[in-house]
Amino acid sequence: MIELTDVRKAFHGQPVLRGVDLTIRAGETFTILGGSGSGKSVCLKHMIGLLRPDQGRVVVLGQDITDMPEHDLVDVRTSISMIFQSAALFDSLTVYENVAYPLREHWRVPEDRIAARVAESLEAVGLAGVETKMPSELSGGMRKRVGVARGVALEPKVILYDEPTTGLDPANQRRIGELIVSLQRELDVTSVIVTHELDLCFAISDRVALLKGGRIVAQGDAESIRTSEHPDVRAFLDGVRDAPDTEDSLGGPARA
Ligand SMILES: Nc1ncnc2c1ncn2[C@@H]1O[C@H](COP(=O)(O)OP(=O)(O)OP(=O)(O)O)[C@@H](O)[C@H]1O
Ligand SMILES: [Mg+2]
Repeated sequence: MIELTDVRKAFHGQPVLRGVDLTIRAGETFTILGGSGSGKSVCLKHMIGLLRPDQGRVVVLGQDITDMPEHDLVDVRTSISMIFQSAALFDSLTVYENVAYPLREHWRVPEDRIAARVAESLEAVGLAGVETKMPSELSGGMRKRVGVARGVALEPKVILYDEPTTGLDPANQRRIGELIVSLQRELDVTSVIVTHELDLCFAISDRVALLKGGRIVAQGDAESIRTSEHPDVRAFLDGVRDAPDTEDSLGGPARA
């Protein structure tokens, strides 16, 4: 479904991704773990062509998007959608207009079809009937869910979630986790999640990878990662996860 091969990316001469290899299979829920600043969001943005690698290849849904012109990417993005780290709603638009936005971009259909799809999408995230509200009238958890509704409106085959639960209370975190699972089951979507929240990760993932020092240092099925003896995995799971991915960890020798 998604294949990254030796993806490298630097900003202002600072390497962030130093050769990322990842294969994500159809229908699975795949979580990328990593410390703050380790390049998780950068990694996701490569999967949807928002960032281009300096080196390496990105293949999505059988299409090589590495050098694909922006114009052609528009089509790819009807099948793969990204839920951004901040819900990234348009504050001056109603919930209805926010969710309708991608539909208007990609579907040339009458307004009643759009309205029906907006209603279905909001229903899917447990927010039926909030169409006329403004984002500022919603709680953080509701805003996140409106972001998810906008992300699923086009019935994508792949959904990329960037920190879907960060900043939410436990009840809303659980709700978002359940939502990801139910969307995966009902729509048979492939889900890629970026998070540093371990409870969410191990509750919903089929496979898990750890990004550190610009590379995938470990990956496997969720249980094998949870119980892994790999020193980087242990360090991350045992609490180093809150420490920033500092420069000396980049490419340096593995810390004990
Ligand atoms: N467009 C950009 N221009 C310049 N630097 C960038 C850009 N995007 C990301 N970076 C840098 O790349 C590094 C990794 O950023 P990224 O956002 O991927 O981290 P992250 O793992 O998602 O962290 P967090 O958990 O805090 O969201 C950071 O040092 C960031 O400053
Ligand atoms: Mg991020």
